[in-house]
Amino acid sequence: MPDMVLEIRGLDAHYGDFQALYGIDMTVARGEMLAIIGANGAGKTTLLRSISGLMKNGNDQIRYNGAPIGAMRADLVARLGIALVPEGRQLFPSLSVEENLVIGGQVGRKGPWSLSEIYALFPILKERRHQPSTSLSGGQQQMVAIGRALMANPDLILFDEISLGLAPVIIKSIYQALPNIVGQGMTALIVEQDIARALSVSSRVYCLQEGRVSLEGASGGISRAEISRAYFGVT
Ligand SMILES: Nc1ncnc2c1ncn2[C@@H]1O[C@H](COP(=O)(O)OP(=O)(O)OP(=O)(O)O)[C@@H](O)[C@H]1O
Ligand SMILES: [Mg+2]
Repeated sequence: MPDMVLEIRGLDAHYGDFQALYGIDMTVARGEMLAIIGANGAGKTTLLRSISGLMKNGNDQIRYNGAPIGAMRADLVARLGIALVPEGRQLFPSLSVEENLVIGGQVGRKGPWSLSEIYALFPILKERRHQPSTSLSGGQQQMVAIGRALMANPDLILFDEISLGLAPVIIKSIYQALPNIVGQGMTALIVEQDIARALSVSSRVYCLQEGRVSLEGASGGISRAEISRAYFGVT
């Protein structure tokens, strides 16, 4: 029996009267790199927000290391070791690069990541550490967002569209850093619009369509036709 970090069963999510997720089932084994793909509005961000405690769900619908967390507050979920790199980065604009990173460490978890490791991973951030986060390029801001999540020393890290709007050379450097990030037993969920990239970095992939899982499988074993069908709903 594999060691499951995350077990999602029958997960629903709502924004007021609008239902965004319908009965999502998903399991993630420790150390796995899982990709989540799907068209705009499919529910990818809602799923990551649910896992991180930013949406309230049925407590038993999400289990982390065997314990129910579906209704747990986001700050408590973070303390248990789940970190989100949010869509759009969401840095604190009035704070410096380093202050943004330090805030990530305030959940108080021990582990391999500290400022010096983040600066070794992304040396440009060390050069810019005293500058306001808003003065950085989009790619550099994304590095801050990743660094801030790593400062929490998570067991499970959730990436929401880390390459969106970035120059290809930056995307490449961020993805080249991923294996160093996700070594040592850390588990990762990656939401990625670029299907080829999603498949190449992950061991398994889930496709969402209109709030439901439309496809699940080994990233190497899925055909283009299956993905198109699961992605767009065309037959
Ligand atoms: N704050 C909100 N209030 C109401 N509806 C929302 C809200 N956020 C998202 N939705 C709706 O929930 C559904 C899922 O949205 P979500 O952001 O999870 O999709 P997504 O797969 O992340 O899309 P994208 O690729 O555009 O980021 C969409 O229909 C969206 O319009
Ligand atoms: Mg999204």
